[in-house]
Amino acid sequence: MQPIATKVIDIYAAHSKGEDLAKLGEVFIEGWVRTNRDSGSIGFIALNDGTCFKNIQVVYNSNIDNHDKISHLLTGAAIGVKGTLVATPEMKQPFELHAVEIVVLGDVDADYPLQKKRHSFEYLRDMAYLRPRTNTFAALYRVRSVLALGVHEFFQGKGFVYVHTPEITANDAEGAGQTFTITTLDDEGKPSETDFYGKKASLTVSGQLHVEPFALAFRDVYTFGPTFRAEKSNTTRHASEFWMIEPEIAFADLEDDMNLMEETIKFCISYVLERCPDEMDFFEAMIAPGTKAKLAEVLSKPFRRMEYTEGIELLKKAVANGHKFENKKIEWGMDLQSEHERYLTEEIAKGPLFLINYPKDIKAFYMKENPDGKTVAACDLLVPGEGEIIGGSQREDNYDVLRAKMQKQGNEEGLQWYLNLRKWGGCVHSGFGIGFDRLLMYLTGVANIRDTEPYPRTSGNLKY
Ligand code: 4AD
Ligand code: MG
Repeated sequence: MQPIATKVIDIYAAHSKGEDLAKLGEVFIEGWVRTNRDSGSIGFIALNDGTCFKNIQVVYNSNIDNHDKISHLLTGAAIGVKGTLVATPEMKQPFELHAVEIVVLGDVDADYPLQKKRHSFEYLRDMAYLRPRTNTFAALYRVRSVLALGVHEFFQGKGFVYVHTPEITANDAEGAGQTFTITTLDDEGKPSETDFYGKKASLTVSGQLHVEPFALAFRDVYTFGPTFRAEKSNTTRHASEFWMIEPEIAFADLEDDMNLMEETIKFCISYVLERCPDEMDFFEAMIAPGTKAKLAEVLSKPFRRMEYTEGIELLKKAVANGHKFENKKIEWGMDLQSEHERYLTEEIAKGPLFLINYPKDIKAFYMKENPDGKTVAACDLLVPGEGEIIGGSQREDNYDVLRAKMQKQGNEEGLQWYLNLRKWGGCVHSGFGIGFDRLLMYLTGVANIRDTEPYPRTSGNLKY
């Protein structure tokens, strides 16, 4: 039976409460060596036990059993240390663990790819299974975990019901033709004729269509889970598997929808800043200086709102003034490219920007048509550095208008149930989808979605 290990996070907590660490007596800590330096008579190990971002400094001297072995321990080795805690108020670290005994629990071969030095994101991307042991990724994945809980706390705190929408569907919610088809294979490896469901099945691109009926029963609901898109866009913001937070609210229009979006984003920022101070300090110092000031500013002001039509005018003006876009032809009706979105949020709004009322022809079939007959009550939230992180809309609640659109798109057949909602107690309702991975990029300043996902899936990349 192993002795019960003390967690480093508990030691830091006791210390910050002003408790006398000596009172803890002899403690036993298990973890992984981050660095080890030995000067003959005395040696220092920076040990990380995984319970918090901070390491604990282990001090050992040459009297220790097995000194030769310990002094040559390499980065990555798993060890157990018995010792006593000593406050070191005059040092960088507030306390040290003076080792009485160190046991090697899992040695590390010399070919271990993570070394003491800083590795590039690209190098580590190729080692998805080891990178959680680095500072950057330990920080990222902990923030990811905390943020996920924050999302649930926010919505549940407001009385929203969490709905598990299916991953396997028979429809393409966004109608963009980017679904992954699911199929069983026969003995020869060909899709079987009847296949499992007797119809085309695919992985969901959005939980929205399945969550809407729940909003029309519970009023305020959300779904939060993985979504899949066979999108070949090779960008820093697109993954083929990503998580989406999709709230849906009944008796609510686009205005209410935007208010909820803003409240959600602000809650998430405060939540992470409060609960992950060490991680956020690390991003600020090492990854994206200025992130904390940026987030503080976002919290301090209402988000700007702008009509799509005004956005187009501003982009035209920018071109006239010599701004170089790769896609120069700006005209009403076009879908905005990321460079256009970024111009509006970075140069014009200088912060988060709601762009609203898009041309109906470039948006999904379920969005509420505006009285002008040309636009829909849709809204994207654009942020500096990334462009779109939320897409949302008021939903078309008029049976005839929606039906005509679905007939035009050819998706009425499998979605009759969705259409029925418009004649059986349908009401004004709205919702949106936050790209969880993009939100994490925004909060941490990490620039590539391949780094915010533990095992990123992008076109041509399925190593792990
Ligand atoms: O704008 P989208 O396509 O909206 C929907 O799917 C709606 N059904 C949401 C709703 O109203 N319930 O996607 C929503 C968000 C985007 O703003 C973006 O942040 C993220 O999902 N997203 C992606 N994130 C990573 N990789 C991709 N390939 C993404 N595609 C969309
Ligand atoms: Mg969108």
